Parts: sequence; structure tokens; C-alpha cells
Amino acid sequence: MSPKRLGPKEREGLGWLADHGLTPVARIVTPKRLRAADRHRRREVSGTSVYERFGRMIKYLGSKRTLLPVILDAVRAAAGAGAVIDLFSGTSRVGHALKGAGYRVLANDHNAYAAVLARCYVQADAEGVLEDAARLVGEFNRLARRADLAPGYFTETFCVKSRYIQPKNGVRIDSIREAIAAKSLPPDLEAVMLTSLMEAADRVDSTTGLQMAYLKHWSQRSHNDLELRVPAVLPRPAAGKCRAHCHDAFDAAAALEGDIAYIDPPYNQHSYLGNYHMWESLVRWDKPPVYGVACKRVDVREGGRRSVFNSRPRFATALRRLLGMVRARTLIISFSDEGYMMRGEMEAMLRGLWGGAARVRVIENDFKRYIGAQIGIYNPRGERVGRVGHLRNKEYMYVVTREGTAQERGGGVATDETPVPRARVEPGDTGETPVPRELVDPYTLPAWAAPSSSS
Ligand SMILES: C[S@@+](CC[C@H](N)C(=O)[O-])C[C@H]1O[C@@H](n2cnc3c(N)ncnc32)[C@H](O)[C@@H]1O
Repeated sequence: MSPKRLGPKEREGLGWLADHGLTPVARIVTPKRLRAADRHRRREVSGTSVYERFGRMIKYLGSKRTLLPVILDAVRAAAGAGAVIDLFSGTSRVGHALKGAGYRVLANDHNAYAAVLARCYVQADAEGVLEDAARLVGEFNRLARRADLAPGYFTETFCVKSRYIQPKNGVRIDSIREAIAAKSLPPDLEAVMLTSLMEAADRVDSTTGLQMAYLKHWSQRSHNDLELRVPAVLPRPAAGKCRAHCHDAFDAAAALEGDIAYIDPPYNQHSYLGNYHMWESLVRWDKPPVYGVACKRVDVREGGRRSVFNSRPRFATALRRLLGMVRARTLIISFSDEGYMMRGEMEAMLRGLWGGAARVRVIENDFKRYIGAQIGIYNPRGERVGRVGHLRNKEYMYVVTREGTAQERGGGVATDETPVPRARVEPGDTGETPVPRELVDPYTLPAWAAPSSSS
């Protein structure tokens, strides 16, 4: 099916959403509408934007919210694509937009909070979870209004020892998180409720969007009362069931197969686990010991969960190896001019892929840097002690295709002199494109990510 048109299943899904009083988001995901929304946002037009109709997601460094129209255009340009791999999914807003545009998305991220977001926005289907989610949102919002709530791990750690969120909201988060755990919900529904809680907490936090530090004085929004909303879960696209995985990128690259792979790795030394440790602890609910003023979970500094993509000396080799493993005929790579590899170096490396059969196109985008850079540098007493060198940065999108189109090569995933490893196909999988079992089932976290015994 052409992703541009709505098929009967999507129309049915949208009808279902409307019947349940929910915003039908899928039909508005077109590059034209996104570009229009972006123009509105840039002009700071007040009122409800298309982005808001998509639903707001958590604040996230490196989130590709403003690049969505460009990414969708690039994906559409690869004619005939049905399945798209998102190897570093983060907030999942890219996977969400692609799913809304009709593609079958296979998302992956090695952090548990990101895998939960992907399970909510990519894997879960509106027709399977939204009715229960809407009921639970009502139930938990009533719970949050009770006067007899007791503080727990979250309040003690993130509202008293540190000051990310006001204690009045901390007790609500503790109570709702315990209630979610007690219900033993089906995994997709649980992910939707955890996403709803994470986003509600994000709306009342007191940070600049990173959990390396909190503001000296409570932010304006932190005084608001925590309130859950139903996340913008999409109906299943006609292209097939989407999937979310929680694996290291190398394992995911070896196992997943698609027409296009979107690759958006970290670009500096700051680990996402360290920057978003509070979400990781909220999602895992393993109540680990913490360290430092920022109250980070101990596994942030233990090393076992470090990403090779945060290492300057290892980055280029790791990326080259990863790209060589990815099983898709088109690669779309996002990378910033502030990252470990300069544009020339990246282009040269990409041209060398697939035994030299790669063709590279570069799309350049100019952006305001993240809010922390706009605010400046402050000491622990809250005094401004410096300015950030530059306030804008460039995001490059490298679109890598093989010489010769898929049609010329007979369709499907193109082959060349570098053999592409085949997926191990397990019988009984309901997905239209076979996916190996070890990446299908588990919401259970892989062994390396299991809570440590010291917690
Ligand atoms: C730049 S962010 C992706 C942002 C995402 N495209 C979005 O729009 O929200 C990079 C992501 O890579 C994940 N990551 C880092 N190292 C990884 C690894 N080795 N394997 C899998 N995911 C990894 C991080 O958790 C982070 O969410």
C-alpha cells in the first residue's frame, strides 16, 4: 500500500479513535502538514499546533522533532519502502511519525525508558490498548488527588535528596507507579501507562531537559499538579505490526531487516542513561542506590551499560562496523556538526560502504542549540559565569543508497559483494516480515540490563 493513502484498516482505526473521543492523529502525518506546523512554530503562532495534536513527548537531547518533515520526505523518496528500522529510537517520535504515515516500524534503543516509549508509540496499537488506557488514566488521576498519599523511593530520591520535581508531585508519582506495578498489566498497556506517567512528570519537572542537574529555583511548571494524559497511540498501519526492542544497536542491526534504516546515534561523550537516569529508574522501578548531587543510578558510572558511541576514539570504527551490518538497502543517518565526525570524514566513510557501491546525498539543516545553551553557564550558586560559544548548530542527514535501484536489482533488500546476513526466521511469528524470536517477545529486559543485585 502507498503510505500516502489511508487503507480500509487505517480508516477503521481512525473511526475507532473518533468513537472513543480520542484525537485521530494518523491522518495528519504528512510532510506537507509537518512543514506547515514547523512554519507556525517558528513564527510562534499561538494556539494548538499540529505538534500538540501529535501529543507532546518528553524533552530529549537530540530529539528529531523539528527534522520530522525532512526525515519523512527522505523515507518517501525511497520508493516502495514498507518497513523502516529505527536503530536509536530515543523518544520514538521518528518511529511514531513513520507509523502514522503507514510504514511498518522496527524500533530499538538500549535504554529501558526509550524501549518503553517505543513500545507505546510504535508497537502498541490504538485498537488494542486505548480503551483500557483511557480508563486507567482516569483512575490514576483520581488516585493522584487523594490527600493520604505516602512518599516513597521517587519522592525521597528526586524531590528531597535532589530537586527535579516538587514533593507534592513526587508522592503522586510514587503512588501511580506502585499502582501500575501492582496491576501486572499486559506489556503494551503497561508501556502506555508508563509513558503517560513519564510525560506527566516531564511536564512538571524543574530542569532544562537534562537530568544532570536541576534548577536552583523551582521552575514555573513544577508548581502545577501532575496530571496524566492518554498518549497519542496510533492504529496499526496496513504495512503490518510494528515492533519495539531493547538491545544494543549491534544486536538489533544483526537481527532486524527492513527497506530503510534510520540511524541517529549519540554524537558526544554524554551518556543518555546519565542524562535521563530518572526516567530509567521510574520505568524499571528497581529503586537502585544513587550517587552525587544529581542522584544518578549507580549503573550510570559502573561501565557495563556504556555505549561505544559515547567514546571519541572508538566512535568512527564502531559506526562503520554497525553500518556494514545493517540489513536495509537505504540508510538515513542523522549527525550533528558538533559530533565526533566531521562532514568530510563521514561522507568518505559512507562512500566506502558496500564495497564502494554506496551513493551519498547530504541534507543540511540549521538549528538553534538546546535550551541550556541559550540560557548560558551558571555556577552552583545560580550566578551566570559564562556564555556558550555558539547558539546554532547544523544537523546533517546523510542518505545512502546503493548504485542501481531496487527495481533494477529485482526488488527487496539489494545484495552486493558484501554479503548481508539473513535473519533467523522463527515459525509462528505474526509479523508480516519475519523477525527473529529473541527480538520479538520480551518486554522482559535482557540480562545485561536486569536490575543489579545490590539494588
Ligand atoms: C540522538 S538519540 C536518538 C533520538 C531520537 N531519534 C529521537 O528523535 O528522539 C540517541 C539514542 O541512542 C541510544 N543509544 C546510545 N547508544 C546505544 C547503543 N549502543 N545501542 C542502542 N541504543 C543506543 C540512546 O539511548 C538515545 O536514545
